[in-house]
Amino acid sequence: MGQAARELVSSHLGLWLLLCSWGCLGSAEPRAPPDKIAIIGAGIGGTSAAYYLRQKFGKDVKIDLFERGEVGGRLATMTLQGQEYEAGGSVIHPLNLHMKRFVKDLGLSTVQSSGGLMGVYNGETLVFEESSWFIINIIKLIWQYGFQSLRMHMWVEDILDKFMRIYRYQSHDYAFSSVENLLHSLGGDDFTGMLNRTLLETLLKAGFSEKFLEEIVAPVMRVNYGQSTDIHGFVGAVSLTCTDSGLWAVEGGNKLVCSGLLKASKSNLISGSVMSIEEKTRTKEIGNPTKMYEVVYQTGSETRSDFYDIVLVATPLNRKMSNITFLNFDPPIEEFHQYYEHIVTTLVKGKLNSTTFSSRTLDNFGLSAILTTDNSDLFINSIAIVSSVREKNNPQSSTDGTNVWKIFSKETLTQEQLLKLFLSYDYTVKQQWLAYPHYKPPEKCPSIILHDQLYYVNGIEYAASAMEMSAIAAHNAALLAYHRWNGHTHMIDQEDLYEKLKTEL
Ligand SMILES: Cc1cc2nc3c(=O)[nH]c(=O)nc-3n(C[C@H](O)[C@H](O)[C@H](O)COP(=O)(O)OP(=O)(O)OC[C@H]3O[C@@H](n4cnc5c(N)ncnc54)[C@H](O)[C@@H]3O)c2cc1C
Ligand SMILES: *[C@@H]1O[C@H](CO)[C@@H](O)[C@H](O)[C@H]1NC(C)=O
Ligand SMILES: *[C@@H]1O[C@H](CO)[C@@H](O)[C@H](O)[C@H]1NC(C)=O
Ligand SMILES: *[C@@H]1O[C@H](CO)[C@@H](O)[C@H](O)[C@H]1NC(C)=O
Repeated sequence: MGQAARELVSSHLGLWLLLCSWGCLGSAEPRAPPDKIAIIGAGIGGTSAAYYLRQKFGKDVKIDLFERGEVGGRLATMTLQGQEYEAGGSVIHPLNLHMKRFVKDLGLSTVQSSGGLMGVYNGETLVFEESSWFIINIIKLIWQYGFQSLRMHMWVEDILDKFMRIYRYQSHDYAFSSVENLLHSLGGDDFTGMLNRTLLETLLKAGFSEKFLEEIVAPVMRVNYGQSTDIHGFVGAVSLTCTDSGLWAVEGGNKLVCSGLLKASKSNLISGSVMSIEEKTRTKEIGNPTKMYEVVYQTGSETRSDFYDIVLVATPLNRKMSNITFLNFDPPIEEFHQYYEHIVTTLVKGKLNSTTFSSRTLDNFGLSAILTTDNSDLFINSIAIVSSVREKNNPQSSTDGTNVWKIFSKETLTQEQLLKLFLSYDYTVKQQWLAYPHYKPPEKCPSIILHDQLYYVNGIEYAASAMEMSAIAAHNAALLAYHRWNGHTHMIDQEDLYEKLKTEL
């Protein structure tokens, strides 16, 4: 650039700055970026929020990520005999585009997690069994349930198809101020209405038989959400997408996405437990007094605090899980008393007692996953052979009949119960979770905007709890924070986005 041009630019800049100091407030000119942003929780929600916030606010903003446990949160592995296995969130749908993108951008690898054959046990007998012959499965399904499984597939695909619109909205930077608005933009009243009715009600109305709902749909809800068909229709549909083919996981463990995003976002990890958030007026080195949030946290035996322009809460807000107190907000921030489902993951290396489930001996058993119907006498939700996070192959039945089985149950299994399931076993490890919301329609999702610049990512779990949902909510919260910081109201809660963007591309 020549001298003259440079002077022209700088004088324009000077003029612009002068004008700006008079009249920029409320105009579309960019506001200075925030100095500091806090994120609470380093699960997939918090770490992907860090990643998207960095993209939007640029390299100069300081991002602190608070985590009191392990990076990954509900994405974690447990170790059995030196091998790691997924203990929490384990499978990812092929159309979960944010998760797919993260894995690609971070240079991670994937493993396919399609298992072997599945059966459904009702407490007495196997009411459904897959066969290794695809054509036989179809014939079986038609013979037992008519064309319902095909229709079910179409029902789910239709919802998934509309759901996929979110990726286009987000790639154009559009944000939503509530989970309901987000859902409404995807599928209108049909989508938000799904939160109001149980899956059972929705599917009975759509003409599915009670037998099909009991023997196929309920077992899928039990394995994915530890609940039955009395959950709402939307989370039910999300759960049913797990019956699609092409499910995958991250080689080495899904939690590697979280540590990768943390690093890529150049955020600062603070190992500590956040205890309270309070709005305070502060005078920065330059400028007028501004409202900021004071985050008080405990690290080791020390209590510390720091000030932030923007705060994102990326953990479920309730006393049992995050126990964060909001101090002196006027009006007070709504209290969350969300009840999360208690689920125990148990890994067992042993020989299954197949006669517990069928008359066949282990040699002829052939099933590697057993789901269960909604029978209160059953003490497990599901049991399946799993492969470690490094194994590229599908789990194979071992030659001596010993396998690593993953069991989901509501309560910790007793030794007596384990002896019912296994002829013999060598090792067991377990992990307890407050896993996902206890769904009870009609469902109202918690607010995303808790206060001026204070956002809540995990309210989306009340629509459905899944890795991809957290990533979508994190992207939305980052965009929302950015647009609200800069006064871009036209990027928030736009109506008819689908139609608008259709003509744009
Ligand atoms: C057993 C199980 C199976 C699942 N299966 C699947 C599956 O197959 N596919 C799928 O997509 N999803 C699955 N899910 C759901 C999925 O794991 C979650 O939806 C997702 O991991 C939630 O991520 P998050 O970041 O929103 O929350 P979290 O992972 O819970 O992260 C919140 C983090 O915040 C931290 N924290 C909390 N309070 C504080 C505080 N006061 N101060 C500092 N840190 C705090 C916590 O330690 C935690 O690390 C499963 C979940 C479970 C439990
Ligand atoms: C769902 O129910 C709530 C009340 O619980 C109501 O306000 C809302 O309009 C309902 N939504 C739809 C789409 O039916
Ligand atoms: C929540 O935190 C408060 C103090 O901030 C503490 O007194 C209380 O015991 C905590 N509750 C739980 C369930 O951890
Ligand atoms: C296996 O289970 C069956 C049925 O529950 C039971 O009768 C049998 O004793 C069990 N076998 C062993 C070796 O525990």
